[in-house]
Amino acid sequence: MITMDNIIDDKNPMIREISKEVELPLSAEDEQLAKDMMEYLINSQDEELSKKYDLRPGVGLAAVQVGVLKRMCAIYIPYYDQDGNLKNLDQWVLVNPKIVAYTPKISYVASGEGCLSVPVDHKGYVPRHAKVVVEAYDALTKQNVKITARGFTAICIQHEMDHFDGVLYYDRFQKDDPTRPIPNAMVIQ
Ligand code: CO
Repeated sequence: MITMDNIIDDKNPMIREISKEVELPLSAEDEQLAKDMMEYLINSQDEELSKKYDLRPGVGLAAVQVGVLKRMCAIYIPYYDQDGNLKNLDQWVLVNPKIVAYTPKISYVASGEGCLSVPVDHKGYVPRHAKVVVEAYDALTKQNVKITARGFTAICIQHEMDHFDGVLYYDRFQKDDPTRPIPNAMVIQ
């Protein structure tokens, strides 16, 4: 299983490398990687397991973060209602995802983004497309998918896809003042 020991941080130059397209159908090795990445996210969000194995909670993980330069990322985002009941679960292992459409509207997370490869949080807002349409092969359901993502999920997908190109969230901060509110943007709480 993947633990924090397997996840490279931003001091490792590999995090800046460009990941390659994944060959389809997936090899047995890539299928296993997809499973392992998803398992990490699920375990990391489990109170007991995250404590037991010292896993930093995450909602997304790109293959490069575990040292594999392939355009593959796992996403696991549960949404709860006010009573704490699971309302919706966005989960995929996206292989070779492409953004085929997006809105010009910008959104950002009010509390800033985090990254399993960035051990020290950097304060700042990251402008993202408020809505993206993504085409990919989903290794979880083993089919091609076309996803229309909004809000936090859209941000998460764009964050992971940045990893394919060696881009980290703090690279996208406004250079003059990272915590200056972004004009006309939708703020995600
Ligand atoms: Co990240």
